[in-house]
Amino acid sequence: MIRSHADGDSGQFLSIAEHIADEAARSGKTKVAEDISAAVRRAKLKSSQVNRPTPITAARGELAGLMRVTYPDVRLSDLVVGPDLQRRLRRLVREHDEAEALKAKDLQPRRKFLFSGPPGTGKSMTAAAIAGELGLPLLTVLLDGVITKFMGETAAKLRLVFDAMSATRGVYLFDEVDALASRRGSDNDIGEARRMLNSFLQFLEDDTSGSIVVAATNLRSLLDPAIFRRFDTAFVYEKPSSSEARQVLANHLPGFELDALDWGLIDERTMGLSQADLAAAAADAARDAVLDNSSVLTTQFLCQALADRTTIHVDMAPGR
Ligand SMILES: Nc1ncnc2c1ncn2[C@@H]1O[C@H](COP(=O)(O)OP(=O)(O)OP(=O)(O)O)[C@@H](O)[C@H]1O
Ligand SMILES: [Mg+2]
Repeated sequence: MIRSHADGDSGQFLSIAEHIADEAARSGKTKVAEDISAAVRRAKLKSSQVNRPTPITAARGELAGLMRVTYPDVRLSDLVVGPDLQRRLRRLVREHDEAEALKAKDLQPRRKFLFSGPPGTGKSMTAAAIAGELGLPLLTVLLDGVITKFMGETAAKLRLVFDAMSATRGVYLFDEVDALASRRGSDNDIGEARRMLNSFLQFLEDDTSGSIVVAATNLRSLLDPAIFRRFDTAFVYEKPSSSEARQVLANHLPGFELDALDWGLIDERTMGLSQADLAAAAADAARDAVLDNSSVLTTQFLCQALADRTTIHVDMAPGR
């Protein structure tokens, strides 16, 4: 196996790895067997993608202005969420990794997901992580470009986006989907909002492409109730627990010594902050440490940065 690796013979390397997985499964080491098999599948998927046709790097023609294309390198392991959410997300990715096995039994991976929860808790990041895990492009739908005030034009632009899903397999993210599918649309009998809502619901229902559709909102209660059954599954995002908050801070402070910090004091300051706030506070504290204290991060720098982030929310709260 080592020889085939050194020789760069990846076919031989992977077939030996598969053999080891079979042996492990036979001797009852199912976890080891599963881990090795999953790693082999991923390696095969990667090498098939190296030979894929030229990746799309920009939306062209009529699609320009409607979507932004990226190839994220974010992974699910970068995402700090509760264990249940992490498990369910991994399961979804596995369904796509092992789509062939499902197909053999006439099953298909779930493809249409609705993410809801407060700002900065990882909804958009999850769409990027799913794309990153599966080696797919992330196509972020630019709602400013899709929604127009001209009669019928929004539906026509939405159709272009949904047509693209069949032409280019990817993760299609409708961020702030409440703008497209709010219940206000259904109250408005003749208006453009209703037309837009109906077309979105219809396109979503008719879509049988192999692409993944992610819709995200922090205003779930505004969504038209008819939208929910169009999704295969829904995920609710939350602000982090104090141990998750510590993890976000630590992830964003690589290269700093953190063991001596007073974490009890820091925990008090992380309350109510989202993962995005914590990531930003960590960067603020890191900058302070570098500029003011020879790169030594202190509890005080971190507490101050967290307090400053909390103040931003207070200052920006409605009614102030
Ligand atoms: N759960 C998380 N785990 C780790 N980092 C996170 C998480 N949530 C947010 N972040 C950090 O904050 C940034 C912004 O998060 P993201 O855009 O995913 O939030 P969101 O839930 O989509 O918010 P919004 O509702 O405002 O669109 C991420 O790029 C990442 O750096
Ligand atoms: Mg977002």
